Formats: sequence, C-alpha cells, structure tokens
Amino acid sequence: MPLFTGELILNKTPAGSRPHKFRMLRDGKEEYLTPAEFIDLLRMSDRIMIAKGGNEATTAAFMDMLKGFQLDGELVNVCRFCLLKRRFNFLNRRSIRYHSEKICEECAKEELARVLNAPYCHYSDEAKKRIEEMLLQTRDLDRTVGTLDPEGLDQELTRFDTVQASLDARTMRIADLPISKNFKDILLQKSDELLPVQAKAVDAGLFKGKHQLVTSVTATGKTLIGELAGIENILRKKGKMLYLVPLVALANQKYDQFTDKYGSLGITTSIRIGSARIRTSSTLKMRRALDSNIIVGTYEGIDFILRSGDADLLGKIGTVVIDEVHTLEDSERGHRVDGVIGRLKYIAPAAQFIYLSATVAEPLALAQKLNAILVEYEYRPVPIERHLIFCEEHDKLKLMTRLVREEFARTSTKGHRGQTIIFTNSRRNCHSISEALPMVSAPYHAGLTQFVRKSVEERFLKGKLPVVVTTAALAAGVDFPASQVIFESLAMGIEWINMQEFMQMLGRAGRPDYHDRGIVVLLATPNKRYSSEQTETEDAVAIKLLKGKMMPSSLDYGEDEQMEEILASAAVTSSKKDLTAIHKRMLGTFELTKLVTRLVHYKFLEKREDNISLTPFGQIAAGHFLSVSSAFLIRDAVLKGMGPLEIVTNLEFFDGVYFKYAAQISTALDINVPSRVFQGASLDIIFEGDNISQLDQNIQDQLFEFAAAFLTCKCKDSPYCGCAERRFSAKIVEIRMEGYDPAGIVHKMEDMYGVTAYPGDILGYLDNVVRNLDAVEKIARVYSKKDIANAAREMKKQVEG
Ligand SMILES: Nc1ncnc2c1ncn2[C@@H]1O[C@H](COP(=O)(O)OP(=O)(O)OP(=O)(O)O)[C@@H](O)[C@H]1O
Ligand SMILES: [Mg+2]
Ligand SMILES: [Zn+2]
Ligand SMILES: [Zn+2]
Repeated sequence: MPLFTGELILNKTPAGSRPHKFRMLRDGKEEYLTPAEFIDLLRMSDRIMIAKGGNEATTAAFMDMLKGFQLDGELVNVCRFCLLKRRFNFLNRRSIRYHSEKICEECAKEELARVLNAPYCHYSDEAKKRIEEMLLQTRDLDRTVGTLDPEGLDQELTRFDTVQASLDARTMRIADLPISKNFKDILLQKSDELLPVQAKAVDAGLFKGKHQLVTSVTATGKTLIGELAGIENILRKKGKMLYLVPLVALANQKYDQFTDKYGSLGITTSIRIGSARIRTSSTLKMRRALDSNIIVGTYEGIDFILRSGDADLLGKIGTVVIDEVHTLEDSERGHRVDGVIGRLKYIAPAAQFIYLSATVAEPLALAQKLNAILVEYEYRPVPIERHLIFCEEHDKLKLMTRLVREEFARTSTKGHRGQTIIFTNSRRNCHSISEALPMVSAPYHAGLTQFVRKSVEERFLKGKLPVVVTTAALAAGVDFPASQVIFESLAMGIEWINMQEFMQMLGRAGRPDYHDRGIVVLLATPNKRYSSEQTETEDAVAIKLLKGKMMPSSLDYGEDEQMEEILASAAVTSSKKDLTAIHKRMLGTFELTKLVTRLVHYKFLEKREDNISLTPFGQIAAGHFLSVSSAFLIRDAVLKGMGPLEIVTNLEFFDGVYFKYAAQISTALDINVPSRVFQGASLDIIFEGDNISQLDQNIQDQLFEFAAAFLTCKCKDSPYCGCAERRFSAKIVEIRMEGYDPAGIVHKMEDMYGVTAYPGDILGYLDNVVRNLDAVEKIARVYSKKDIANAAREMKKQVEG
C-alpha cells in the first residue's frame, strides 16, 4: 500500500520535459509540491520504477524528465488492477492470467470473489475455497471461471485428485493352491492367478480354518475368498456354506453364479430370500431345500430359518460368509446383522467365519470384536481420477451426455469401451434420466423385476450399454464393469449419502480385468438441498465427501430392537447362560437382564430356573420378525375380531405408489406435485378446489376412480389419517388374490387409477403380507379365534399363489 499517491503534470520546455505541478494525496488530504520539492523527493528514492504498458507518450515524457535531472528510471511489470485501486504489486511468473494480461494474485482473488458472489450464484464457503484453490493451481482466472460454465468443461481442472493403484501386488498361482483338483480345474477356467487380496487371505490362514475379516475396496475379488474357504470346506466334508448378503438382487446373482460354477462338482445351491414364498414364474425354478451344500440368502432369509427354530435342519455348517458386513453399521438393519451373526456363531461353533466388506470405519477394532484375523488390502487395482464439477441442475443432463459419450468413445488397452454408471437419488429419476439421455441407456434399481435387471446386467457386461442409471441403494456388490461413475446427485431419497455409501459407489469405477483407470465425477449444484431439513448444500457435501474421513458409528440399539434380537435368539437356545453368551458376543450392547424380565412379564418368554424359552406367542413374534409392539397390535386386533386383511394392512402398508402422470399434472396445475402418491401434500394439491378440472379428461376419470375407491373416510385429518394407504394396500392384496403377477398388478393399477409402482416392490410387499398373515393365523389360534385363523390361512394361500 502506498504512503501517498500523486498526480504529476509535465511541461514541455525547449530543454525537454520538466515538472510543472505535483498534486499529492495523503490520508484523503490534498497538498501541492513545488517542482523543486518533487525532484528532491525523486532524488531521495532508492528506486524509480515506471509501469510497463502505460501510455507511450506519457512514459516517454517522464523518462525524458528523469534524464534531465540525471535520474534513472526502470520499466517494470506491475498489476494494472492494483494501480486502478491505488495500490502497487509486481507481476512475475507466478502472476495470474486474466484475459490478455496478467494480474496479481490478490486482484485475481478479488475478481473471482466478484464472480462467485454475483446475485444469481449460491456457492457455499467450501465450494468457494475449492474454486480459489483451482485458481492458485492454474494461475489462470479465465480458465478457473470457465469451469463454472458447462460448455467449458476442463478435465485437467475439475480433477480433484487421483487415487493411485497399488504396485506391490503379490499374487499367487492357483495351480499351487492346496485345494482339491476338481475345484482347481474350475478356477483355472477363469484365471491362472489369485488377486492380491485373495493371496493375502490364503497367507493369513484361509485354508487353515481361520476366521477372517477381509476389507478391500470394490472389485478386488472378495467373493472368491468366501468361495475358496466354503467350497474347499464342502469338499473336505467339513459342512455346508452359508453365504449371506444384504440384498435380494445380490442373493439372486450369487445363486446363479454358484449354481453354474459348482454344479459340475455335484455341489447344490439353494436360495433363501423373503420373496421365495410368493410364487411367480421366475421364483418357481429356484432351489430352496435346506439340504443343499450352499445356501445363499439375505440376512433376514437365513435368520428366518433360525428364528423359526429350524436351525437343526441346516445340518453341519462348515463355512459362514457374511458379505457386505458393514451393513452392521446401518441404523435400521444393523441389529439384525449383529443378531444373525451371533446366532450363527452359536449354532455353528465349528464353522469358519469369513466377513467381507469394502468399507469399514475401524477395521482392526471390528476384527477384534468379531474374533477374526484382519486381512486388509488398501490399494486399488487401477487408479481412479476423481472430478468435481459445480453446475446448475439444468446443466446436468448436458454434462452427463458429454461425459458418457467421451467415455464410450475410449477403448482401454484391454479392449473394452468405457461404460458409465450414473447414480441418482430416486428410482423415478433413474427412469427420467435414462429417458432423457440421447444414447442407449437403461434404468436399474431394486424395484424392477429380476428378469429386467438381469437383462440390463447382461447387456452391460457385453459392453452394449454405454450407461446405466441407478440409485445409491444398489451400490453394493452387483457386478457392473463400469469405467466411469457419475454422481448426478449426492443424495439417497432426501438424505445425503454418507461416507460409506460414497466409497461403495465410487468404487464401482474401473475394473482390473476391463480398464486401465476409473473416473469418478461429482456433479454438484451450489444451492441444492433435497429437503428443507438439510442445512448443507450439495457443493459443500461434495467437498466433504471427497476430503472426508469415515466416521465409525456406534452400535446402540433401541429397546424394541434389543427385544427383537433377544426373542430371536431365544429361538435357538433355551439356556439362560447361552442366551447371555450369544448376546455378549454381539457388537451392540444388550440390557439382557432387564429386557428378559420385561419379556417374561409381557408373556413372550417363560422362565423356569435356568431355562428361558419362548411362549407360543413369543415364538410367533420371533419367527415373523415382529417387534413387541407389532405383536401386541395383532393380538389386540384379533381379540377385537378384526379381519385378517385389515390387520395386515394396519401393520404395514405399501407406500411405493406413484402418479403415472405426475409430470403432466404438475404442468397443468403449474405446481410441482410430488410423484409419490402417499408422500407430502400430493393428494391435497390434486384434490383441492377445482384443480382436477384442469386436467385431461382421461386423467380426471382415473383420479376420480382413485378418490372413489380410497379417499372415502370421514376422518378429521384425511387424507393423512392412513386410511387411503391401508385401502390401497388392501386393493393390491385383492388383485393378487385374483391371480395376478406383480407386473400384472402394476398394469391393472395404471389402467384403473392412473398410478403406478415397481413390480419388485410389490413382490416384497406381498411377501411381508404373507408373513404377517401367517402371524395373524397363529396368534388367532393361540386365542382360539378360529374364524379369523381360518380366514387368514385361506388368504395366505391365495396371496402365495
Ligand atoms: N483371481 C481372479 N482372477 C481374475 N479375475 C478375478 C479373480 N477373482 C475375482 N475376479 C473378478 O473380479 C471381479 C470382482 O470380484 P468381486 O465381485 O468378488 O469383487 P468384490 O471385492 O466382492 O467387490 P464388491 O465390494 O463390489 O462386492 C469379478 O468380475 C470377478 O470375476
Ligand atoms: Mg462383493
Ligand atoms: Zn493487483
Ligand atoms: Zn381416515
């Protein structure tokens, strides 16, 4: 900052330029120096510098004047912006390019801030900081500002970092493994070597029966570790393998794989997922028998066997594989995973337990708790470049189109074209984005039928699909060899994704057997929030996720959850000592004594000396995944004489219903109508005033049908009283009882009421209905309500089909 600034007026004299007047400004005050005083000032200076790039004539005149007084001046590069702001800064090699000139760092930051703080911009502080980092890195203001423009995509600049691949990959020849010859031959058909994490697991005693927790990022070949132990244990007659996964889709995939791969060894595979009770054309062919060598199932599907008291039917268990074991940290399902592991340890004390996960908060601590050896493989088989692009919502489609196209145009050294997975926050969006993309693409999510999902997986595997659009919910495990992952949104539903989900999702980019590298792109909209409860915006969340460390979540269960697990465990033991031991080994803390006393008081448990057992009522609750409160609800309803359909629709309703014409309705009414029928204010909006009369006749008719069928109650807080949901759910069950498949049910709802749903969701709901009907039947028998029991049984048969 200058001590003062001044304005010099030169006179042209025959002897050359001479000072005429010097007006000095200091502290806002004006002062005049005489020419002699001004020259004295110059003589006192250490250095006289003249800014390059000024007016040529003026510069020449000033130099001429200096010469007249035997003074030296030098031309220097200074920041022109600074001069305009009456301050002084040199320019040098590190100065920042701006249009055709260079300016100093300070001015560049000020210019950037001006752009970022413009009234139509809403960048978070984190995002501003990130963009400033880009400026300092590139030293180019135009380029930095250019990245904020979707047309000016600059991949050099949007790159946040590169996660390097590991180079110290120890492998192992499959031919040298100490396993049966037949098994070896099957493995050799696919590959000659083990992948590094597999080799590490073998080194750590995989074939010596050691329990292991294996953590390594996605696509490092964890499944095969489970298979190596499991198949070899089967062949050595140590017992069968249970393979537990969190999702129905994954269970289906592993079931198909194991059936194909090991059938020739005479090894049989069964599947245990909830939906196996509902007969449809595709579930009929799957094997469910418990005497198979391999049983693949969801956590709940396997736990169901234990909870129903059928653990004995499993026979000898040699290996238990818990895939995606980080589900333990899930707030809703964690207790069930913890519970099923604890119970399996109890019923199969000799079995080898293998836990697999890509992301665990504190691997060593978890391994100790699980009593397993930690096998950790930290590095990636291929490097991943992570990019962050700030953009407006309406630019996302254009950006995705471009990124997908460019990636598909590339071929890896392994001969595969680049394919993309786009993650979005809802199933709905999977469809709308897929439809809007100009290239061949497909939506993929758990709500689609297994048949449709499978065909998408196959097309993707064959390299025929440049892109699939999916939800965060399906991030884990399904084999999609994508080279690029795009985050169209950083939310799941209306919640931000967490670190773990983020790692799982981005880990999908780059497969060792297909690609040389992976690309991850986050598209973040500065002012975007998915609900009014969110305090952060998408751009800030993006940066947190990219920089973030994983937070270990504590395993604290509520009393309802604890009681559910205690009841479930009482199905596998009647000894109080054992019950205590099972729960001691679990990861969560259980207030056993207090809750057992309460469960005895509620008549779910019976206590006789050192024995604890389930009452008939408790047995029903345990076998049907009922919480204590749901079990009471059924009992009270049965005693009141309520019908089975009413009871089960009270217990759980189907909420995955969407307005088929939500977009048209929104346009016609000029308000954003939420597409989910039973969410937010959609029903209110549509049926308010004369709104409905503004819609197409056809849609009007369907909506009136919907209202006549489901919105008839006189409750004070209708339509938020729950009656509509219950009636609608009952309708689904009724249509099923007429003999329709899930897909057929969807068609019927579309025709009649203009609403739609996903067949996979319908299937899942019907499965729960069957389970709950079964509970109703059994509870009704306990209380000698024969009519209700018989009605429930009849209905159950029809729903199963
Ligand atoms: N020894 C091997 N040689 C070659 N390819 C292999 C080998 N082992 C596994 N693969 C392949 O690597 C890919 C990824 O394997 P897998 O699905 O088991 O990964 P993962 O670690 O379980 O990943 P995720 O965390 O996503 O579940 C699969 O396509 C699999 O066929
Ligand atoms: Mg896996
Ligand atoms: Zn400057
Ligand atoms: Zn009502």
